[in-house]
Amino acid sequence: MTRTSITARLDDPEAAREEGRRKMEWAMQHMPILEALAEEFSAEEPLEGQVVGMAMHVEAKTANLVELLAEGGAEVAITGCNPLSTHDDVSAALDAHSHITSYAERGVDDEAYYADIEAVIGHEPTVTVDDGMDMVAAIHESHPDLIDTIVGGCEETTTGVHRLRAMDADGELKYPVFAVNDTPMKTLFDNVHGTGESALATIAMTTNLSWASKTVVVAGYGYCGKGVAQKASGQNANVVVTEVEPRRALEAHMEGYDVMPMREAAEVGDVFITTTGNRDVITREHFERMRDGVLLANAGHFDVEVNLDHLSDMAVDQYEARDGVEAYELADGRRLNVLAEGRLVNLAAPIALGHPVEVMDQSFGVQAVCVRELVENADAYDPGVHDVPDELDREVAEIKLAAEGVEHDSLSDAQREYMDSWDHGT
Ligand code: NAI
Repeated sequence: MTRTSITARLDDPEAAREEGRRKMEWAMQHMPILEALAEEFSAEEPLEGQVVGMAMHVEAKTANLVELLAEGGAEVAITGCNPLSTHDDVSAALDAHSHITSYAERGVDDEAYYADIEAVIGHEPTVTVDDGMDMVAAIHESHPDLIDTIVGGCEETTTGVHRLRAMDADGELKYPVFAVNDTPMKTLFDNVHGTGESALATIAMTTNLSWASKTVVVAGYGYCGKGVAQKASGQNANVVVTEVEPRRALEAHMEGYDVMPMREAAEVGDVFITTTGNRDVITREHFERMRDGVLLANAGHFDVEVNLDHLSDMAVDQYEARDGVEAYELADGRRLNVLAEGRLVNLAAPIALGHPVEVMDQSFGVQAVCVRELVENADAYDPGVHDVPDELDREVAEIKLAAEGVEHDSLSDAQREYMDSWDHGT
């Protein structure tokens, strides 16, 4: 299957471009980190001669990162990393840029999704930027000949980093990749606050229902789960946490949430939000115990956390109850409502906008400086997964603090020496 860029697939590309550009400009007004980096990148063109291949959620904030990389001198080819998260108008606006080709389109089937990834790889990227590792996987599986000319890659999300670490452990990862997800300027803000705010906002807007007095079951108390639990609690919901990791279960307990197995939580929950990055977190045995009218939403990367095969098997009827809400009616009359087809709700629901702009400014600021680092210091990194160098993470934090007008203290020489020494006892 050969794919053209998005423009050729739209009825009115001009109107789409204008709307996409409007969304990008609004977002850019709230992205001081990308704005500061744009000044540097367009003056110095650190990415001159590079081809960046990207598979990410194509919406306004990502689009501003894509343009930043193009302003830095790169040719950029991009497609989506989820069949439902693309905003076609934004994709069209990107595709109109002379140094950017966008293949991303909302609602593509699996065949077209992977054909679009192939189309990006056809540009022969020298740098990859992924959200979920699909691009790295396709290059290693089908285009190993490109690996010699790839200087490195960046990975945006927890699931992608897990997959990359597994590949690295097997000795199969053949070029360096930065675990952008794991760096403080990303995880502590994007995963926690971004996912918390945007998952709850999207569920509320999609269903037009209140959080107050609902019992919200959060599966997984990692970074995303903490954010979801905290924001749900802030909306006056009762929060129940399910976990498989004892320390995280204890943390949730000590932070005031009810912790119980999913088997029990299934009986008390009104809203279920999965944030585990794992599969089969909610299955037949749980559906059997749920109350009529529950909402089931996933905020983890892949659509495998809520087992929809089991639910389809059990259902006697299935219909769209609202945009983005599929009701599964069971033989006893109970209706279980699945949001956004079980795909990550804050990006894949029809009205989803993804994380707040300010949060993505941080994540994408880290992405931009990591791409610059790979190009400028390629030789410093062996094949494998690498932590983001601390000075790059700090650079992004300092830009943000300056933009917010926040000043902070610095270590004195004496303090630095004290902190670095081991021989200052009592
Ligand atoms: P994390 O590793 O910090 O947390 C996941 C937690 O789930 C862990 O504590 C783990 O013990 C727990 N868990 C695993 N299997 C479980 C099970 N069967 N039942 C209950 N708990 C279970 O990961 P993080 O950063 O919170 O990311 C979670 C997922 O969210 C990943 O897939 C990641 O890619 C995705 N993500 C989604 C975002 C969004 O916009 N929706 C943003 C950032 C990450």
